[in-house]
Amino acid sequence: MSTAVPTIERPLTICIAGGTGFVGRELIVRLARAGHELRVPSRSLGHADELRPMPSVEVAVGDVHDTDFLRRLIEGCDAVINLVGILNERGRGGAGFRRAHVEFTAALLRAMDEAGVSRLLHMSALNADAERGRSHYLRTKGAAERLVRGAPWLDWTIFRPSLIFGPGDALTNRFARLLRAGAGFLPLARARARFCPIYVGDVAEAFVRALHGGSSSRQTYELCGPELLTLEQIVRLTARSARLPCHIWPLPDALAQVQAALMDFLPGKPFSTDNFRSLLTDAVCRGNDCDRLGIRAASCSALAPLWLAPAARPRAEAAAPLPAVTR
Ligand SMILES: NC(=O)c1ccc[n+]([C@@H]2O[C@H](COP(=O)([O-])OP(=O)(O)OC[C@H]3O[C@@H](n4cnc5c(N)ncnc54)[C@H](OP(=O)(O)O)[C@@H]3O)[C@@H](O)[C@H]2O)c1
Repeated sequence: MSTAVPTIERPLTICIAGGTGFVGRELIVRLARAGHELRVPSRSLGHADELRPMPSVEVAVGDVHDTDFLRRLIEGCDAVINLVGILNERGRGGAGFRRAHVEFTAALLRAMDEAGVSRLLHMSALNADAERGRSHYLRTKGAAERLVRGAPWLDWTIFRPSLIFGPGDALTNRFARLLRAGAGFLPLARARARFCPIYVGDVAEAFVRALHGGSSSRQTYELCGPELLTLEQIVRLTARSARLPCHIWPLPDALAQVQAALMDFLPGKPFSTDNFRSLLTDAVCRGNDCDRLGIRAASCSALAPLWLAPAARPRAEAAAPLPAVTR
């Protein structure tokens, strides 16, 4: 939960790349309510269905990797926010991760430079590291951070959250679906991997505060929620909140790797070798920077029943676009 909201001196024009996603939708609702004008590049109009009815949001569909397309959208903006990211790629060699994280960031920086816009809020992830990251996901997130930090003209702020939860997340909702499909039985890779899941509303609030606070320039913020949970505890919390049976089989790593290698070939990759590698490093903050931003982060156990409980499900599913909890 957050403390006092900073005063907004004047409406800003902001380009939000990746604004059609889970975090983007939450952030856009807050920024639009605060009176800002928002421009959202997207690869498909269908991905932006929930944003289009909002009068202060302009969705531009096109080749989001094209510098000219991005520059036209960024011209006249006060700031750019980059939320583009993927958890899985189509292939297995890392090219998809490089394209979404590194090449996209490079194109965005070129477009900003050409448009004369220097303020960037950039979404990364805990453990992002271009060299020592264990997965393509973490290495490419690290390489993108390096591009951002290496641009001398750029006024950047980087965010590195742990897992993000909230209505419409790919975490608790996915586990709830798997538990339902398997009558509560779930073979679980890396059951002891540790996280401090953070509420999507608190992540959005961190961006809003950084946008308005001058002190966030050239700062990196690690964002963690108040609970330290293993993956197994997150699944149990999901089951409790959704009132589902829960019988977890923690898989030894050798078996988990086989599971991941098989799932690499399933459509949509519910789990992958790259996910397995990311889970080898705990996603826990060294120092939680929510404090620095004046945000008292909400706990997953307190909020998850709001969208997972059986009584909340029909409402949550019908109103998927906007979170049921905005504080
Ligand atoms: N969710 C988490 O638990 C979590 C944790 C740590 C960090 N993060 C980071 O937070 C950011 C937002 O996450 P999210 O959960 O909101 O993700 P999301 O729901 O999957 O949304 C990702 C956005 O990225 C865009 N995108 C996807 N692939 C792209 C590609 N190849 N090229 C260009 N754009 C592409 C999509 O826009 P269009 O489809 O409209 O083009 C979409 O709006 C990501 O950078 C993610 O890595 C998330």
